[in-house]
Amino acid sequence: MNLMKNRSIGSGFPGNKNRRQFLKIAGYGTIGLMTGGFGPLLNYSVASQNADTNFTPDLDISLTARPDEVAVLPGRPTQVWRYHAFVHKGEKSRVVEIPRSYLGPIIKAYRGEKVRIRFTNEIPEESIVHWHGLHVPAIMDGHPRYVVSQGQSYLYEFEVNNRAGTYWYHPHPHGRTGPQVYRGLAGLFIVSDEEEQSVGLPDGEYEVPLVLQDRTFGSDNQLIYTSGHRMEQMTGFLGDMIMVNGLPDFTLPASTCAYRLRLLNGSNSRIYKLAWKDDRPLTIIGTDGGLLERPVFRQYAFLSPGERLEIWADFSEYPVGFETSLISLPFDPGGMGGRRMGRGMMMGGGMAQNLPNGAGFSIFKIKVVKNVKKDQSLPEQLSEISPPQQDEAVNFLNPRQFYLTMRHMQWSINGRVFQMEEVADDEIVQLGSKELWEFHNTGGGMMNMPHPIHLHGKQFQVIERSGVMHEGYVDEGWKDTVLIMPGERIRFLVDFADYPGLFLYHCHNLEHEDMGMMRNYFVRGPISSEQRL
Ligand code: C2O
Ligand code: CU
Ligand code: CU
Repeated sequence: MNLMKNRSIGSGFPGNKNRRQFLKIAGYGTIGLMTGGFGPLLNYSVASQNADTNFTPDLDISLTARPDEVAVLPGRPTQVWRYHAFVHKGEKSRVVEIPRSYLGPIIKAYRGEKVRIRFTNEIPEESIVHWHGLHVPAIMDGHPRYVVSQGQSYLYEFEVNNRAGTYWYHPHPHGRTGPQVYRGLAGLFIVSDEEEQSVGLPDGEYEVPLVLQDRTFGSDNQLIYTSGHRMEQMTGFLGDMIMVNGLPDFTLPASTCAYRLRLLNGSNSRIYKLAWKDDRPLTIIGTDGGLLERPVFRQYAFLSPGERLEIWADFSEYPVGFETSLISLPFDPGGMGGRRMGRGMMMGGGMAQNLPNGAGFSIFKIKVVKNVKKDQSLPEQLSEISPPQQDEAVNFLNPRQFYLTMRHMQWSINGRVFQMEEVADDEIVQLGSKELWEFHNTGGGMMNMPHPIHLHGKQFQVIERSGVMHEGYVDEGWKDTVLIMPGERIRFLVDFADYPGLFLYHCHNLEHEDMGMMRNYFVRGPISSEQRL
């Protein structure tokens, strides 16, 4: 069957025949590499990638992106783009629809499982799916060069080898990620494993996924995105309505017991400064790459686009009738620059920003409605995480440097913007090595903005953060996205132990990403037949 043979399917695919993948190497002195390390890649072609006939999936699903309508607000339904899934093999419960939501279904998998996902694009533009946070081979990662057009499919087959955690999936076509996610294309990918299950955290109705997003609706109930003005792109899209799991005015009816809340910031560019309205500290048990070693407590915590946080919320001490909210506290997103730009935009006739980044608001309400007696206490130990060994990095004395800057109304990384298949000399790492990467948010002179920096294909460990706003970060545990406020510098350790090839790193402010605040990094090493799959 055709579907099984090719990654990208369909004869109408433009340029299908000569889709050989070439790396364009910027700068000089890389000719040697071209013949050596890049050799395997030069013969690499998506269309010719045969599926492994030995691949026997534990979970086999179809995932389709298609136009749909959802009754989000009273009255006219909202036109959205939405992921739909169908389970071919595996329990039906591995795909969980969120009722009344434009979000894609939650996909659930276990560590060690083999997963096949047959993606079909039915929206009227190119798209591809990226598994945010999952450690998969380059060809399974949803790089924008693998986009398929309307009516075409892309076959994913990979083993889930991440720790248990809250991951997610979303489109990744170049220049169109922001609008596609905004229209509704996003969903959670939840991984479980034995270590997690041995902890005995609240589950079933006491485990609640919460996807935070902001949207703006017109009077006809249709979504309004940015006008495309450069200034709006520079800031990023900010909606005036806070949605939780795709629903406005979300309320969680709770029982008098402990909950595990899994939060994802699925917004295009809004940053949340999370706190409880009733002032008790947040009990944080997990981040991007799963459970922390031990719970940590914060009066508030930042959650920037792409990041996840898991919170332990215990209502056993509260009476039925008690109400609280998870709120976002006001903060200054970038010194005066950021604020001033926000206002300037409004006056410039762009989209009205009723709710600027850094404004305070309520995210959702929790109402205690039911008495339940459960014997639960916050576990002291949640998982085991070996501390990062900085000195194991090959560049221990000389961390790789990345500067986040703006030039000519364009956000960039080290002064460069995204080119589909371009890798610079200083973006090549050696397979099997550990490295220290250091990002500096040096800003853009007249405009300072926070940048959530995300690495594809890897979880890393934060070593150090220098800056002024320390309390609100949860840098503990495994991360794939970190918020870097203006003036801050962050250093993390990343292990390129496996999976050679081309991967992305970028700002997860989706408008920044779309305008090119994204680059490739290349993991140089032999590509085994297994990885070519
Ligand atoms: Cu959610 Cu390229 O990332
Ligand atoms: Cu990602
Ligand atoms: Cu950015």
